[in-house]
Amino acid sequence: VNHLIGIKYITKQDIDLIFETADHFKEVINRPIKKVPSLRDVTIANIFFENSTRTKLSFELAQKRLSADVISFSAAQSSVKKGETLIDTVNNILSMKVDMVVMRHSSPGAAHFLSKNINASVVNAGDGAHEHPTQALLDSFTIREKLGDVGGKKIVIVGDILHSRVALSNIFALQMQGAEVKVCGPKTLIPIYIESLGVKVEPNLRKALEWADVANMLRVQNERLDVSYFPTTREYTQQYGVTKELLDSLNKEIVIMHPGPINRGVEITSDVADSQQSVILEQVENGVAVRMAVIYLLASKIKN
Ligand code: CP
Repeated sequence: VNHLIGIKYITKQDIDLIFETADHFKEVINRPIKKVPSLRDVTIANIFFENSTRTKLSFELAQKRLSADVISFSAAQSSVKKGETLIDTVNNILSMKVDMVVMRHSSPGAAHFLSKNINASVVNAGDGAHEHPTQALLDSFTIREKLGDVGGKKIVIVGDILHSRVALSNIFALQMQGAEVKVCGPKTLIPIYIESLGVKVEPNLRKALEWADVANMLRVQNERLDVSYFPTTREYTQQYGVTKELLDSLNKEIVIMHPGPINRGVEITSDVADSQQSVILEQVENGVAVRMAVIYLLASKIKN
């Protein structure tokens, strides 16, 4: 594979190799000198057609820690605004001797389409409601770090599953590693095909949390919702918001994850987000090592 388009297209062996490589890079970026010279001869373009804080900066930092040359492109400030197509845009960037493209786009399938139409490695940094493979990898890497293994663990993904590329990539990655996955949320935000993926729906948040070892709390994607959508934010929070009181009333301590950005007070309260049960900032920290591993492994294939 010369691309990372989705978790659906990789294997458990690929994930194991990415994690072993990420273990090494995590150790590297905790040294006083955080860089390795591995990719001095590689140039990477990060092209973002949708907003991002974590993914964009994490990829950029991962590439710089590997000593790659990096250019970053934000569609909002580019000639895309004058009507230039995706393929023309990327081919113009590639003609500057770029080897790899990391792309975020609002259209599901955009990364796959790009990979079929250009002559460079493509890494999907999120394509609409389709996949966000590096997020799922860093989520599993964090579970592995916290609980020792992903296999055999019970993970509930809570919230807006319908609009979530994070949910889909996590479902593929977790099941591949032998975890059991449930989703919990309002019916209007659960896709009708979900059970065909081997995922059970638990509509009751308390029951879902009592079952789980890990709860991955998703953001309600207001920007993708119709204004008349049910439930309202207040109804959502009453039924699906995780509070410290709810967590304290369970008979065990579960791990709380969130891909960010958080709607504080909607899907989780601030005291949960900032509690010692939360691994939200560990997820972000691990994102750099995991993305270093993904880029390093793909670049090795370009060079050989
Ligand atoms: N988790 C995540 O994809 O965050 P950003 O949208 O800020 O990149």
